[in-house]
Amino acid sequence: MKAKVNKARTRTRAPAAPARHSAPLSVVILAAGEGKRMKSALPKVLQQVAGKALLQHVIDTAAALSPAAIQVVYGHGGEQVRAALAQERVSWTLQAQRLGTGHALQVAMPQVPDGHRVLVLYGDVPLIRAATLRELVALCGPRSMSLLTMSMPDPDGYGRIVRDARGRVRRIVEQKDASARERAIRECNTGVLAAPAGALRRWLTELKPDNAQGEYYLTDTIALAVRDRLAVTPLLLADAGEALGANDKAQLAQLEALWRSRVARELMLAGVTLVDPARVDVRGSLVCGSDVLIDVNTVFEGHVRLGDRVRIGPGCVVRDSEIDAGTQVHAHCVIEQARIGADCQIGPFARFRPTATLGRAVHIGNFVEVKNSSMADGSKANHLAYVGDADVGGRVNIGAGTIIANYDGANKHRTRIADDVHTGSNSVLVAPITVGAGATIAAGSTVTAEVPAGKLTVARARQVTVENWRRPVKPGR
Ligand code: UD1
Ligand code: MG
Repeated sequence: MKAKVNKARTRTRAPAAPARHSAPLSVVILAAGEGKRMKSALPKVLQQVAGKALLQHVIDTAAALSPAAIQVVYGHGGEQVRAALAQERVSWTLQAQRLGTGHALQVAMPQVPDGHRVLVLYGDVPLIRAATLRELVALCGPRSMSLLTMSMPDPDGYGRIVRDARGRVRRIVEQKDASARERAIRECNTGVLAAPAGALRRWLTELKPDNAQGEYYLTDTIALAVRDRLAVTPLLLADAGEALGANDKAQLAQLEALWRSRVARELMLAGVTLVDPARVDVRGSLVCGSDVLIDVNTVFEGHVRLGDRVRIGPGCVVRDSEIDAGTQVHAHCVIEQARIGADCQIGPFARFRPTATLGRAVHIGNFVEVKNSSMADGSKANHLAYVGDADVGGRVNIGAGTIIANYDGANKHRTRIADDVHTGSNSVLVAPITVGAGATIAAGSTVTAEVPAGKLTVARARQVTVENWRRPVKPGR
């Protein structure tokens, strides 16, 4: 059932350009919660959605607003959180005692100058969009604050937005303090708000923990703003999913699913064919050319770029790699830090380890591993091979079962294979070694010395047939 919300003074999308205020912005992220329900040694805000800590999502979104400063209020498990996000350009404020959201913001306020606007975010609400926050912040000025609200079919547990007969927001009442009538309100507080710093600082000192939870409620500042005749402008979220938090692993999976469908939608609207949008995971950034097709159960991590007409088969994992136009990656390939040229055929069941580089029209088939190697245009390794620490020229054919033995137990050595070489099945090339252009290595060879260009090199025992040999016979037969 759709919740009813009085929209008299609610903006879902700003109809006209709202008044812009140029006061600098300070973002404060509340992240001192414990997250016991995660039942994990990892603090809640370090739990991941799309391969990224919840708090990292929030910091990244905040940074997209180019604020003057970002402050994170941390508490329980704090050192672990700080260490995990040490590279972030944020300042950290410890809330030693967890006395409520109002108290959490209060410990951050000494670092915020009076002339700033303050945007409050939660460290465990990762899906909020920068565009939403921009809209919210634009509604906040010296004499106005803004509040992000959402309409919930089941508002249980949330603070409720109390409006007057004219639809103006008067205060927020927490679930535990609400009357039966107030509990029936479906419009809820997301917790995200923007307010002028000077006024906010005053209100926070006026908070009293005289409520059901004995906490300093940030939400009580709304009534104080009304008392001081500031405009309180609510912004109703069109998609309440943006404000969802995660308290346990089930909710975490829900956030993951929301993220997945958001990214899938963006990809599809950009022209990518997803065979099933519910079965593609993008944990990082995926940039695609035109007419790219991505099959089911594929995972993309880090920064991945796919050129025009690239096809990724089912069950592939692609991490920090670039794949050029027209290349087909068949089922169940794992590709990590690779640079794959145009019109290649990859897999099924191929593995690329870091710094594999392929030219144009290279074929890498099943159960072939390529590591720290380059293979130039038109080369092939179609079955069961290991190409490690090698520079392979063009039009080379690496036969089935070829192994480049790059490791002597202590050191890795490089192998150089010039253009047009053919290595026979089951050959072993013991590095360091050089194979000249056009050389052929006979099947089953173990080559340990330079292989000359243009010749056949055989490095295996010659076949003999023993004429008068008899098989041993069991006694009594
Ligand atoms: C809060 C809001 C409620 C809103 C809901 C949305 C208050 C009083 N209530 O309730 O109106 O509907 O969020 O999810 O604000 N935190 C600290 N230090 C503290 C307490 C909390 O840093 O001392 C942080 C938590 O880590 C969390 C956020 O503040 O990120 C919200 O705290 P939480 O305890 O989840 O608040 P709720 O009771 O859910
Ligand atoms: Mg909460």
